[in-house]
Amino acid sequence: MNILLMSGSFHSKSKSISILNSLQSYFPNYDYELPRLDKLPFYNEDLNADKPDSILSLIDQVKTCNGIVVCSPEYNHSVPAVLKNAIDWVSRPAFNSALKDKPITIITQANSPVGGARAQAHLKLIFDSTLSVIYPSHEMMITGVDKVIASDGSISDGVKNCLERHFSSFVEFIVKHS
Ligand SMILES: Cc1cc2nc3c(=O)[nH]c(=O)nc-3n(C[C@H](O)[C@H](O)[C@H](O)COP(=O)(O)O)c2cc1C
Repeated sequence: MNILLMSGSFHSKSKSISILNSLQSYFPNYDYELPRLDKLPFYNEDLNADKPDSILSLIDQVKTCNGIVVCSPEYNHSVPAVLKNAIDWVSRPAFNSALKDKPITIITQANSPVGGARAQAHLKLIFDSTLSVIYPSHEMMITGVDKVIASDGSISDGVKNCLERHFSSFVEFIVKHS
């Protein structure tokens, strides 16, 4: 099974990346890709007519994966631009893109007591527009993230258990859906 991991942040101590890396270590039997969305150009209609290789490669990764796990912080009560830009690129042609019918689950994290709930809600709205299949589940929002993920990326046992449960149910959902 191929899983595409999409992060909303890419700095060296990104908690989103730590979470996505942890999934790879908890479930080593799957294949993963974690593209550097921060290296993509901004969406531009002119560029879309003759897509850069980085965009063609991302679209190909979305097409060939069995499911997508998004993990993102919340920025100013919404979705970080780096992630929204990547989704915008892959979303064309509208209503018939590589994202159509693709199983997706969303994890948000924040230091706040709501764990990026607004970013999570916005991501659901965005993936509605791409006709993706959003995994219906208990929402996976990690609150007080600085207390449960250390600066070296190590994750508390409680969050590890939640991530394992969430991801294994998502894989079951992908299998049922396909
Ligand atoms: C530009 C910016 C805006 C932010 N806005 C919010 C916000 O609206 N709500 C929130 O809970 N945290 C906000 N934060 C804090 C991040 O969501 C939080 O630090 C997160 O854990 C960082 O995740 P990362 O390590 O994956 O980058 C903001 C951070 C930045 C840099």
